[in-house]
Amino acid sequence: DWKMKDVLEQEIKAVQEKVGAEDHVICALSGGVDSTVAATLVHKAIGERLHCVFVDNGLLRYKERERVIETFERDLHLPVTCVDATEQFLGQLKGVVDPEMKRKIIGREFINIFDAFAHDLEQKLGKKPAYLVQGTLYPDVIESCPPPGTQSTHSHTIKSHHNVGGLPKNMKLKLIEPLKLLFKDEVRALGKILDVPEAFLKRHPFPGPGLAVRVLGDVTQGNALEVLRQVDEIFIQSIKDAGIYDSIWQAFAVFLPIRSVGVQGDQRTHSHVVALRAVTSQDGMTADWYNFEHKFLDEVARKICNSVRGVNRVVQDITSKPPSTIEWE
Ligand code: XMP
Repeated sequence: DWKMKDVLEQEIKAVQEKVGAEDHVICALSGGVDSTVAATLVHKAIGERLHCVFVDNGLLRYKERERVIETFERDLHLPVTCVDATEQFLGQLKGVVDPEMKRKIIGREFINIFDAFAHDLEQKLGKKPAYLVQGTLYPDVIESCPPPGTQSTHSHTIKSHHNVGGLPKNMKLKLIEPLKLLFKDEVRALGKILDVPEAFLKRHPFPGPGLAVRVLGDVTQGNALEVLRQVDEIFIQSIKDAGIYDSIWQAFAVFLPIRSVGVQGDQRTHSHVVALRAVTSQDGMTADWYNFEHKFLDEVARKICNSVRGVNRVVQDITSKPPSTIEWE
């Protein structure tokens, strides 16, 4: 795609001019498409003066940390510091049931970890990093109408920005936002040129607060996170095997904080209930529930109950957005 190749050249040059030959840059990788493409671009521009951090907050999906790190290191040759902050996050979230409170705590802890990362780096380099890379897209930038001269030919709807995190408060970092004029499909095209694996570029969106918004209530209850990871993995893998992953905007499982009675073998059980959610959407602002084939649902539900200990009931979410949101919290 010649147009995106031009964009890439221009953006690389712009980053080089902005940062100069001395300054260092930091970036928090979320494992999502935007921050990954942004970091890869900046890495091309300034090499090892880019310092990336990936935070395992204990709220990631099955093997997600390993998969994401593998993509960064093996496919993209993007050096990244991985911080295991599971205990810090889960410790702060213990007993918290209010969804907004959960989000706030997670956002705050992200900033704390990022601050610590930047301070460590300062010690190592003997100088403060000067810039921060963010994977901000055009729809995040414009509020209601685009500024003059930046009109895009696209007719995408505008989505509100609600990423977890924000800027470390007293660091005075200047921003580098190389994707600021691009839409999602353009970012994917750019990612392709930068050799980001196709499967990575096509991954369903995943919320910043992670599985915390998919375990209803206290995320530390029992083995909820572990159960959810297993159920989610079976669901997603079945969707991929059925060849329908790319027709779905987002699919995931939700852990419900209730138990129901079941019978497995000749045992009466009193176990967990999980919900499956899959939707189609253009931009996440509105969504329709995805209509799986009967046989698919039947097989997935059986597989889940047969292989995930402690689950004896599977239900499907058949509401659209509105009135529901995509996530349950
Ligand atoms: P809702 O649940 O509001 O979700 O219909 C719309 C889209 O946004 C994602 N989402 C989030 N993403 N931080 C994020 O980075 C969040 O706090 C958050 N909440 C929801 C959701 O997965 C869906 O794609």
